[in-house]
Amino acid sequence: MTRTPLIAGNWKMNGDIPWTRELCTHLAKRSANWPALGGLRAEVAIFPPAVSLAAAAAALQGFPILLGAQNMHEAPSGAFTGEVSGPMLLTAGCQMVILGHSERRQFFGETDAGINRKALAALAVGLKPIVCVGESLDERESGRTHEVVERQLAGGLKGLTVADLKHVVIAYEPVWAIGTGKVATVQQAGDVHRFIRGWISKAHSPEAASRIRILYGGSVKADNAKELLADPDIDGALVGGASLDADQFDRIIRSVPLVS
Ligand code: PGA
Repeated sequence: MTRTPLIAGNWKMNGDIPWTRELCTHLAKRSANWPALGGLRAEVAIFPPAVSLAAAAAALQGFPILLGAQNMHEAPSGAFTGEVSGPMLLTAGCQMVILGHSERRQFFGETDAGINRKALAALAVGLKPIVCVGESLDERESGRTHEVVERQLAGGLKGLTVADLKHVVIAYEPVWAIGTGKVATVQQAGDVHRFIRGWISKAHSPEAASRIRILYGGSVKADNAKELLADPDIDGALVGGASLDADQFDRIIRSVPLVS
């Protein structure tokens, strides 16, 4: 099955509203060149901080760049001070939401069960969740990578139907590669991507496994993207630092292999 690659830019807690408008304008200008690449069929999405989403949506109107949030609350509304819900994200112009990023797990105590509740809530309102998984350095060095990723998948995707999985993206982000400049090798990433696809095939269905997009994230830059994206099981990238620079992000988008 051919899967449309996705290049996603996670801005994390960077940029204010004027800066957001500026970066979106730069990206929008560059997007004119993307279809000119012939076979390129990638989707491009950016994930600014929640407060900047509406400004980003306005700046991107009419351009082929999707918008998503970095997190959401599972309830549609209520007494949850400081939180933002899925229906609110929809009205801000979002189509997607990142869930269970390792920084959310590490600094904000997010658990697989909580991520699962958010994934179900996102799907219920029509937002596509990007569910993040990945092992720490310690877990990799002690040979527990597959075990950890399996636990995160089983917990995070619990109760999702094969129909739900059509709208889900998985991001494999080894924690030791995030923001460190230490990128996983194509072999390391490809191995875990194949493990994830195999797990989805067994736990859900072979069809869901062949259709689901699995992104790699962790120090993806313009100069290593091409090699990673050439692996047939790496369906795109979740890009942090390099997505804050229009030129770098544009070069990563242009690294997607052309489809003949
Ligand atoms: P990085 O972040 O590209 O800066 O390593 C990736 C991510 O956390 O999604």
